[in-house]
Amino acid sequence: MLNGKHIILGITGSIAAYKAAMLCRLLVKEGAEVRVVMTPLAKQFITPLTMATLSKHPILVEFFNPENGEWNSHVSLGEWADLLLIAPATANTMAKMVTGVADNLLLTTYLSARSKVAIAPAMDLDMYAHVTTQSNIATLRERGVAIIEPAAGELASGLIGKGRMAEPEDIVEQVKALFVERNTLRGKHFIVTAGATIEPIDPVRYITNHSTGKMGYAIAEELAKRGARVSLISGRTTLPTPRGVERVDVLTAEDMYNAAVERWAEADGAVMCAAVADYTPKHVAASKLKKSDDDMTIELCRTKDIAKMLGQNKGARTLVGFALETDNEEANAEGKLERKNLDFIVLNSLRDEGAGFRGDTNKVTLIDREGRVEHPLMSKREVAAIIIDRIETINRK
Ligand code: C5P
Repeated sequence: MLNGKHIILGITGSIAAYKAAMLCRLLVKEGAEVRVVMTPLAKQFITPLTMATLSKHPILVEFFNPENGEWNSHVSLGEWADLLLIAPATANTMAKMVTGVADNLLLTTYLSARSKVAIAPAMDLDMYAHVTTQSNIATLRERGVAIIEPAAGELASGLIGKGRMAEPEDIVEQVKALFVERNTLRGKHFIVTAGATIEPIDPVRYITNHSTGKMGYAIAEELAKRGARVSLISGRTTLPTPRGVERVDVLTAEDMYNAAVERWAEADGAVMCAAVADYTPKHVAASKLKKSDDDMTIELCRTKDIAKMLGQNKGARTLVGFALETDNEEANAEGKLERKNLDFIVLNSLRDEGAGFRGDTNKVTLIDREGRVEHPLMSKREVAAIIIDRIETINRK
């Protein structure tokens, strides 16, 4: 499965570097072409000779060869690679990847790489559990880096816990999974709405909500990975545009409505993930409203329901909605399923820890006319995958 794949194996300064030898051998055995880039410290843990012999190529450490000035081009390496696999990845290297520090060849290669990137963290249990490390891992995951989770077990320090690098055989399996092409939605066009809308009150103030857009962006990314054409209609967010996705930035519920309706005629389905304002100020003041000693009332009027509009001329196409509820969850979600003519609705309750806004995880129940399936807490990426699996099942019927 890895036949002819170009893999840069990045090795950083961790005791687990000894496992990189076996990993390299297995990758080569699977047919991959492997080039090894080591950080200067990694050479203390495993010899360049071992890695050069196993990869069948000289290893790279420095930006250039001081003997003859030959440049080790991170740009060409980044272009050459189908995958940059950093195993083991230390807490130090992950932190530098997050902040963009580029003080060795491996990090400059990471910044130049257009390929998939995967990392297999390895460190002591406390370093791994530290909030900084966890936040760096979450950031990298959000940016599309595949994280090959460390295992729990005995560590080099003698302590027992999570932080031990995954075994080479497991890493190879996960690398293979990264190359599985799932073009199951090729030729299909999906609309995804994501994030919060912003309803101006005056040139300075506005009404919005806590949505970050993470769930919708994960869905757009997963649809694109499966070969679909994706129009991501996005409220304000700080998230990067997923690869291969057309992003349409909008501000208000009205803008989002117009952008969605315009594209619906030639779409095959839509996933309505946005947290759309239900009300908007009736009049937007042209200049900043002045305060006075009196209370103030802002008159609000209803916005248009985008999901409902698409549902009204849905035909055989697939329409998925979300329901974020605080009480009476299932009955409310079922009501929306009917009113908006959805194929299914994804319910997340704000009562569940780890679900809803901001975080990287969600706990959802998928509800359709036949029943409901409750899922455990999982990453938003995993939730995206189960939602799209369900869309594919509907499409096959
Ligand atoms: O009725 P409620 O806002 O709770 O319904 C939530 C679902 O409807 C979500 O899928 C949301 O994206 C969609 N929606 C919409 N347009 C609105 C309000 C909600 O598409 N104006």
